Amino acid sequence: MLIKTENLTKTYKTGKNNFIALDNINLEIGEGEIVVILGPSGSGKTTLLNLLSGLDKKTSGKIFYEGKDIGRYSDSRMTRFRKKNLGFIFQTYNLLEHLNVYENILVGKKLGSKTMDVYEVMKTVGLKKHAKKAMYQLSGGEQQRVSIARAIVKNPKVMFCDEPTGALDEKTGKIVLESLIDINEKYNTTMIIITHNPGIAFIGDKIIRMNSGKIIEEKKNKRMNPKEIPWG
Ligand SMILES: Nc1ncnc2c1ncn2[C@@H]1O[C@H](COP(=O)(O)OP(=O)(O)OP(=O)(O)O)[C@@H](O)[C@H]1O
Ligand SMILES: [Mg+2]
Repeated sequence: MLIKTENLTKTYKTGKNNFIALDNINLEIGEGEIVVILGPSGSGKTTLLNLLSGLDKKTSGKIFYEGKDIGRYSDSRMTRFRKKNLGFIFQTYNLLEHLNVYENILVGKKLGSKTMDVYEVMKTVGLKKHAKKAMYQLSGGEQQRVSIARAIVKNPKVMFCDEPTGALDEKTGKIVLESLIDINEKYNTTMIIITHNPGIAFIGDKIIRMNSGKIIEEKKNKRMNPKEIPWG
Protein backbone atom coordinates (compact mmCIF):
# COMPACT_ATOMS: atom_id res chain seq x y z
CA MET A 1 0.00 0.00 0.00
CA LEU A 2 1.37 3.44 -0.90
CA ILE A 3 -0.73 5.54 1.48
CA LYS A 4 -2.74 4.44 4.48
CA THR A 5 -4.51 6.47 7.13
CA GLU A 6 -5.72 5.32 10.53
CA ASN A 7 -8.45 7.31 12.27
CA LEU A 8 -7.12 10.52 10.80
CA THR A 9 -8.82 13.46 12.48
CA LYS A 10 -8.54 17.22 12.22
CA THR A 11 -10.28 19.67 14.49
CA TYR A 12 -10.16 23.45 14.31
CA LYS A 13 -10.62 25.71 17.30
CA THR A 14 -12.81 28.66 16.47
CA GLY A 15 -13.41 30.73 19.59
CA LYS A 16 -14.73 28.41 22.26
CA ASN A 17 -15.85 25.74 19.84
CA ASN A 18 -14.08 22.78 18.36
CA PHE A 19 -14.99 22.10 14.78
CA ILE A 20 -14.34 18.61 13.41
CA ALA A 21 -13.21 19.07 9.80
CA LEU A 22 -12.07 15.45 9.41
CA ASP A 23 -13.54 12.68 11.49
CA ASN A 24 -11.68 9.36 11.78
CA ILE A 25 -10.69 8.84 8.17
CA ASN A 26 -9.49 5.35 7.27
CA LEU A 27 -8.39 4.90 3.71
CA GLU A 28 -5.86 3.06 1.60
CA ILE A 29 -4.41 4.20 -1.70
CA GLY A 30 -2.36 1.86 -3.87
CA GLU A 31 0.57 2.84 -6.08
CA GLY A 32 -0.55 3.94 -9.54
CA GLU A 33 -4.17 4.32 -8.51
CA ILE A 34 -6.38 7.18 -9.63
CA VAL A 35 -8.53 8.16 -6.66
CA VAL A 36 -11.31 10.71 -7.06
CA ILE A 37 -12.68 12.44 -3.97
CA LEU A 38 -16.18 13.90 -4.25
CA GLY A 39 -18.20 15.86 -1.74
CA PRO A 40 -20.03 19.12 -1.18
CA SER A 41 -18.31 22.35 -0.21
CA GLY A 42 -17.01 22.21 3.36
CA SER A 43 -17.04 18.41 3.54
CA GLY A 44 -13.30 18.22 4.26
CA LYS A 45 -11.77 17.37 0.88
CA THR A 46 -9.04 20.01 0.91
CA THR A 47 -8.35 19.38 4.58
CA LEU A 48 -7.80 15.68 3.79
CA LEU A 49 -5.50 16.53 0.90
CA ASN A 50 -3.52 18.96 3.05
CA LEU A 51 -3.01 16.33 5.72
CA LEU A 52 -2.08 13.56 3.26
CA SER A 53 0.47 15.87 1.67
CA GLY A 54 1.88 17.20 4.93
CA LEU A 55 0.87 20.79 4.17
CA ASP A 56 -1.14 20.82 7.37
CA LYS A 57 -0.91 18.93 10.66
CA LYS A 58 -3.35 16.31 11.87
CA THR A 59 -4.99 16.53 15.28
CA SER A 60 -4.89 12.75 15.79
CA GLY A 61 -4.59 9.49 13.89
CA LYS A 62 -1.86 8.29 11.57
CA ILE A 63 -0.66 8.64 7.98
CA PHE A 64 1.67 6.04 6.49
CA TYR A 65 3.60 6.20 3.22
CA GLU A 66 4.87 2.75 2.29
CA GLY A 67 4.49 1.81 5.93
CA LYS A 68 6.40 4.81 7.28
CA ASP A 69 4.57 7.04 9.74
CA ILE A 70 5.06 10.52 8.24
CA GLY A 71 3.19 12.12 11.15
CA ARG A 72 6.38 11.65 13.14
CA TYR A 73 8.55 13.55 10.65
CA SER A 74 10.01 16.91 11.69
CA ASP A 75 8.96 19.95 9.62
CA SER A 76 12.22 19.99 7.68
CA ARG A 77 12.09 16.26 6.96
CA MET A 78 8.47 16.63 5.82
CA THR A 79 9.46 19.49 3.50
CA ARG A 80 12.17 17.36 1.94
CA PHE A 81 9.79 14.40 1.63
CA ARG A 82 7.20 16.62 -0.06
CA LYS A 83 9.68 18.15 -2.51
CA LYS A 84 10.94 14.75 -3.54
CA ASN A 85 7.76 12.69 -3.63
CA LEU A 86 4.69 14.89 -4.02
CA GLY A 87 3.31 17.07 -6.81
CA PHE A 88 0.50 19.60 -6.58
CA ILE A 89 -2.06 21.04 -8.96
CA PHE A 90 -4.68 23.56 -7.91
CA GLN A 91 -7.70 25.22 -9.45
CA THR A 92 -5.63 28.38 -9.86
CA TYR A 93 -2.44 27.64 -11.70
CA ASN A 94 0.09 29.66 -9.65
CA LEU A 95 2.43 30.07 -12.61
CA LEU A 96 5.18 32.65 -12.95
CA GLU A 97 3.75 35.20 -15.40
CA HIS A 98 7.08 36.61 -16.59
CA LEU A 99 8.49 33.19 -17.49
CA ASN A 100 7.67 31.16 -20.59
CA VAL A 101 6.31 27.60 -20.66
CA TYR A 102 9.74 25.96 -20.72
CA GLU A 103 11.02 28.12 -17.86
CA ASN A 104 7.96 27.53 -15.70
CA ILE A 105 8.45 23.78 -16.02
CA LEU A 106 12.15 24.20 -15.24
CA VAL A 107 11.16 25.74 -11.88
CA GLY A 108 9.55 22.39 -10.99
CA LYS A 109 12.54 20.43 -12.23
CA LYS A 110 14.86 22.30 -9.85
CA LEU A 111 12.88 20.93 -6.87
CA GLY A 112 13.61 17.30 -7.59
CA SER A 113 16.58 15.00 -7.87
CA LYS A 114 15.61 12.16 -10.22
CA THR A 115 13.82 14.53 -12.59
CA MET A 116 12.49 14.10 -16.11
CA ASP A 117 13.41 15.82 -19.34
CA VAL A 118 11.48 19.09 -19.77
CA TYR A 119 10.89 18.45 -23.50
CA GLU A 120 9.54 14.96 -22.86
CA VAL A 121 7.12 16.36 -20.28
CA MET A 122 6.02 19.18 -22.61
CA LYS A 123 5.28 16.52 -25.21
CA THR A 124 3.26 14.42 -22.75
CA VAL A 125 0.99 17.36 -21.90
CA GLY A 126 0.86 18.61 -25.50
CA LEU A 127 2.72 21.89 -25.01
CA LYS A 128 5.87 21.40 -27.07
CA LYS A 129 4.85 23.88 -29.71
CA HIS A 130 4.06 26.49 -27.04
CA ALA A 131 7.45 26.25 -25.28
CA LYS A 132 8.42 29.88 -25.80
CA LYS A 133 5.04 31.44 -25.01
CA ALA A 134 4.43 33.55 -21.93
CA MET A 135 1.53 32.66 -19.64
CA TYR A 136 -0.77 35.43 -20.92
CA GLN A 137 -0.50 33.95 -24.42
CA LEU A 138 -2.02 30.64 -23.27
CA SER A 139 -5.61 29.48 -22.76
CA GLY A 140 -6.78 28.38 -19.31
CA GLY A 141 -6.40 24.72 -20.22
CA GLU A 142 -2.91 25.28 -21.57
CA GLN A 143 -1.94 27.11 -18.38
CA GLN A 144 -3.29 24.24 -16.31
CA ARG A 145 -1.21 21.84 -18.42
CA VAL A 146 1.88 23.96 -17.68
CA SER A 147 1.11 23.57 -13.98
CA ILE A 148 0.71 19.80 -14.48
CA ALA A 149 4.03 19.66 -16.33
CA ARG A 150 5.72 21.71 -13.61
CA ALA A 151 4.42 19.24 -10.98
CA ILE A 152 5.27 16.07 -12.91
CA VAL A 153 8.76 17.01 -14.16
CA LYS A 154 10.28 16.23 -10.76
CA ASN A 155 8.86 12.72 -11.09
CA PRO A 156 6.71 12.62 -7.94
CA LYS A 157 5.17 9.41 -6.61
CA VAL A 158 1.86 11.12 -5.94
CA MET A 159 0.05 14.01 -7.60
CA PHE A 160 -2.49 15.90 -5.50
CA CYS A 161 -5.01 17.70 -7.67
CA ASP A 162 -7.49 20.05 -5.96
CA GLU A 163 -10.23 20.95 -8.47
CA PRO A 164 -7.84 20.74 -11.44
CA THR A 165 -10.63 21.47 -13.92
CA GLY A 166 -12.68 23.78 -11.68
CA ALA A 167 -11.91 26.85 -13.78
CA LEU A 168 -12.29 25.14 -17.16
CA ASP A 169 -15.07 24.43 -19.63
CA GLU A 170 -15.95 20.86 -20.62
CA LYS A 171 -13.74 20.57 -23.68
CA THR A 172 -10.68 22.10 -22.05
CA GLY A 173 -11.30 20.25 -18.79
CA LYS A 174 -11.36 16.91 -20.58
CA ILE A 175 -8.05 17.68 -22.31
CA VAL A 176 -6.52 18.40 -18.90
CA LEU A 177 -7.90 15.11 -17.51
CA GLU A 178 -6.44 13.26 -20.49
CA SER A 179 -3.03 14.75 -19.65
CA LEU A 180 -3.33 13.49 -16.07
CA ILE A 181 -4.26 10.01 -17.31
CA ASP A 182 -1.41 9.97 -19.84
CA ILE A 183 1.00 10.76 -17.01
CA ASN A 184 -0.51 8.05 -14.82
CA GLU A 185 -0.20 5.47 -17.61
CA LYS A 186 3.31 6.51 -18.64
CA TYR A 187 4.92 6.97 -15.20
CA ASN A 188 2.54 5.04 -12.89
CA THR A 189 2.06 8.24 -10.87
CA THR A 190 -0.62 7.91 -8.20
CA MET A 191 -3.32 10.56 -8.68
CA ILE A 192 -5.58 11.95 -5.99
CA ILE A 193 -8.14 14.22 -7.59
CA ILE A 194 -10.64 16.37 -5.70
CA THR A 195 -13.67 17.59 -7.57
CA HIS A 196 -17.22 18.88 -7.26
CA ASN A 197 -17.98 17.39 -10.65
CA PRO A 198 -19.50 13.90 -10.22
CA GLY A 199 -18.82 13.04 -13.88
CA ILE A 200 -15.06 13.21 -13.28
CA ALA A 201 -15.33 10.34 -10.79
CA PHE A 202 -15.68 7.93 -13.73
CA ILE A 203 -12.03 8.37 -14.77
CA GLY A 204 -10.88 6.91 -11.42
CA ASP A 205 -10.10 3.44 -10.07
CA LYS A 206 -11.60 4.40 -6.74
CA ILE A 207 -14.32 6.91 -5.87
CA ILE A 208 -14.46 8.32 -2.36
CA ARG A 209 -17.48 10.33 -1.31
CA MET A 210 -17.20 12.68 1.68
CA ASN A 211 -19.70 14.57 3.79
CA SER A 212 -19.30 16.45 7.08
CA GLY A 213 -15.68 15.34 7.51
CA LYS A 214 -16.45 11.65 7.00
CA ILE A 215 -16.06 9.16 4.18
CA ILE A 216 -19.64 8.18 3.45
CA GLU A 217 -18.94 5.89 0.51
CA GLU A 218 -15.94 4.24 -1.11
CA LYS A 219 -16.27 2.20 -4.26
CA LYS A 220 -14.16 0.69 -7.02
CA ASN A 221 -14.66 1.88 -10.57
CA LYS A 222 -13.66 0.74 -14.02
CA ARG A 223 -11.85 3.67 -15.61
CA MET A 224 -13.65 5.53 -18.34
CA ASN A 225 -12.03 7.63 -21.04
CA PRO A 226 -12.51 11.34 -20.21
CA LYS A 227 -14.05 11.79 -23.67
CA GLU A 228 -16.94 9.55 -22.58
CA ILE A 229 -17.70 10.92 -19.12
CA PRO A 230 -20.71 13.12 -18.39
CA TRP A 231 -19.71 16.67 -17.42
CA GLY A 232 -21.31 17.91 -14.21
N1 LIG B 1 -8.25 27.13 9.23
C1 LIG B 1 -9.51 26.79 9.48
N2 LIG B 1 -10.11 27.17 10.63
C2 LIG B 1 -11.39 26.81 10.90
N3 LIG B 1 -12.15 26.04 10.10
C3 LIG B 1 -11.60 25.63 8.95
C4 LIG B 1 -10.26 25.96 8.58
N4 LIG B 1 -10.00 25.40 7.37
C5 LIG B 1 -11.12 24.75 7.01
N5 LIG B 1 -12.08 24.87 7.96
C6 LIG B 1 -13.42 24.28 7.91
O1 LIG B 1 -13.31 22.89 7.69
C7 LIG B 1 -14.34 22.43 6.83
C8 LIG B 1 -13.75 21.66 5.67
O2 LIG B 1 -13.04 22.56 4.83
P1 LIG B 1 -12.39 22.09 3.47
O3 LIG B 1 -11.64 23.26 2.93
O4 LIG B 1 -11.63 20.85 3.69
O5 LIG B 1 -13.68 21.78 2.58
P2 LIG B 1 -13.79 21.30 1.08
O6 LIG B 1 -14.51 20.00 1.07
O7 LIG B 1 -12.45 21.35 0.44
O8 LIG B 1 -14.73 22.43 0.46
P3 LIG B 1 -14.71 23.10 -1.01
O9 LIG B 1 -15.35 22.14 -1.92
O10 LIG B 1 -15.54 24.35 -0.79
O11 LIG B 1 -13.30 23.44 -1.37
C9 LIG B 1 -15.12 23.67 6.40
O12 LIG B 1 -16.31 23.74 7.15
C10 LIG B 1 -14.21 24.82 6.75
O13 LIG B 1 -14.92 25.96 7.08
MG1 LIG C 1 -11.60 22.52 -1.08
